[in-house]
Amino acid sequence: PPAEGKRQLSAAAAADAIHAGSIKQRLAAAFQQSLDAAFPSMAGEPAIVVPCGNPKFGDYQCNNAMALHGKMKGKPDAPKNPRAVAEALLANLPETGMVAETSLAGPGFINIRISPEWLAQHITSMMRDGISTWVPAGYAGRRVVVDFSSPNVAKEMHVGHLRSTIIGDTIARTLEFAGADVKRLNHIGDWGTQFGMLIQYIAEKRPEGLNAASDEDVADLQVLYRAAKLRFDEEEDFKTRAREAVTELQGGRPEYLQAWQRICDASRREFQKLYDRLDVTLEERGESFYNPMLKPVVDDLMERGVAELSDGAKCVFVEGGQNPLIVQKTDGGFGYASTDMAAIKHRIHEEKADWIIYVTDAGQAPHFDLVFAGAAKAGYLPADRTVRIDHVGFGLVLGEDGKKFKSRSGDVVRLVELLDEAKKRITATVKERRPDATDEEVEEAAAAMGYGAVKYADLKNHRTTNYRFSYDDMLSQQGNTAVYQLYAHARIASIVRKSGRDMAQVAASSSVVLGHEKEVALGLQIARFSDAVDDALSELLPHRLTEYLYDLSAAFNQFYVECQVNGSPEEDSRLLLSEATALIMRTCFQLLGIRVLYRI
Ligand code: ARG
Repeated sequence: PPAEGKRQLSAAAAADAIHAGSIKQRLAAAFQQSLDAAFPSMAGEPAIVVPCGNPKFGDYQCNNAMALHGKMKGKPDAPKNPRAVAEALLANLPETGMVAETSLAGPGFINIRISPEWLAQHITSMMRDGISTWVPAGYAGRRVVVDFSSPNVAKEMHVGHLRSTIIGDTIARTLEFAGADVKRLNHIGDWGTQFGMLIQYIAEKRPEGLNAASDEDVADLQVLYRAAKLRFDEEEDFKTRAREAVTELQGGRPEYLQAWQRICDASRREFQKLYDRLDVTLEERGESFYNPMLKPVVDDLMERGVAELSDGAKCVFVEGGQNPLIVQKTDGGFGYASTDMAAIKHRIHEEKADWIIYVTDAGQAPHFDLVFAGAAKAGYLPADRTVRIDHVGFGLVLGEDGKKFKSRSGDVVRLVELLDEAKKRITATVKERRPDATDEEVEEAAAAMGYGAVKYADLKNHRTTNYRFSYDDMLSQQGNTAVYQLYAHARIASIVRKSGRDMAQVAASSSVVLGHEKEVALGLQIARFSDAVDDALSELLPHRLTEYLYDLSAAFNQFYVECQVNGSPEEDSRLLLSEATALIMRTCFQLLGIRVLYRI
């Protein structure tokens, strides 16, 4: 019967799961099998495996016993206490080769010690077959839209957009590493009422009108924006003419469209300078892209009764929402929410996304809550939850004084200048530490460290917290900074280089052996890399990666203090461990968007 076939298939899949993905995922799969076998009435209850709270007792722990015991009370197969549940879980645990020993603690925690032999083998294989064999399970082949950066044309690109760019890029890079098919979309604000004001301002500045407009008019968009805004706020007549200009633009009048295009091009060139420094790639798909879809979407929502008229506006009322989602304003205009409804539909139906991630400041959470609820009501988001959707919100960037971040002159900060300043400040340090370096090497190191420092300082905080922007802190050679990490990596690279050995050959002919206690600790930390990647993705928290990297550097330092590498009897194994550490560090840098340095 088909049901039987299905069960066999899933048993085979379950057996595979034990040998794929991160250590935590493998252990969870093993405990899942044991749970399903030991307590058939509870089959499907997810197995919970986490790193052990106290490393004295184990490396990981399984926490299911207490809750399972509670849920099974009164059932025929109910065990008498949580400890009995834990014992049954252990008795049914399939052979994985990973577990050296287990112990029971407290009322029913299961502590697990990973086998050093298994770890050694695991690292040896990775050094032969590559880091791509270490991706966590569950991400390969998924189609993910990451909507990030998304500044507004001709408006200030502020530090919030810098955060979105940095966090979004790391999420996209990490998903790509894990095998997902990622679409990086820049949802720039390139359509809206601000264009009427700008175009009208340019038109009136030139006696010959818009036809004579040139790139000169858009050379400094911030200046243009401020001047236009001033007139807009102060002159009633200008305001009226600016509104008319919006109508002309939306009506598609050629010289208006041309001026709009000119402004967008100038803006794009500005944004690109930042993306180049940050090594960020993005596909521009601004709000204007969805313009033709807005009316059909709203009509469809009205026809199906998803949206309704309220005070002349077309609104989607969602359960529990204080305000409705306004998809068309009383004056007939479409706004931010209209575009996001059209965009979400397009991303699910046309882009075939099964995961959509929006990276903006936390202040936009109410907007996205409404859009997601509206999209669910409209049926764009399937009811069976096959499409995952996340708003990745983040906190503010503050100045060193803890107040709003601004430049010395009190103006908003130009982001390119901010990156260049970080690079400039670290240049002296680079020259001091390596007086022999060529100009090119200094330039390369300063760019990697300066830009990397800004990114790292942003990513290392839990993204929802506000953080202070301090050049001194982020460029420090001590502590959890990019500069420290880049030095740490270069030091390991130099240990390996000094051996004079060809590491591919060492990996092919020798194996890792974990004997010394610090070797075991380092081996475990190296192998936890895939856990860190999974943690960063499952909760969309990039700081899990920097935290991991910091712990890895510390584990290496402790190893290196006690274990001689070059010239020791254990040289091959220890070189492999060193090179594995360096490789994982480089992979973390890649995920964090930080350029690697081998010599500094
Ligand atoms: N342009 C918006 C802003 O600067 C961010 C857009 C985010 N993406 C979206 N689909 N709404 O606030």
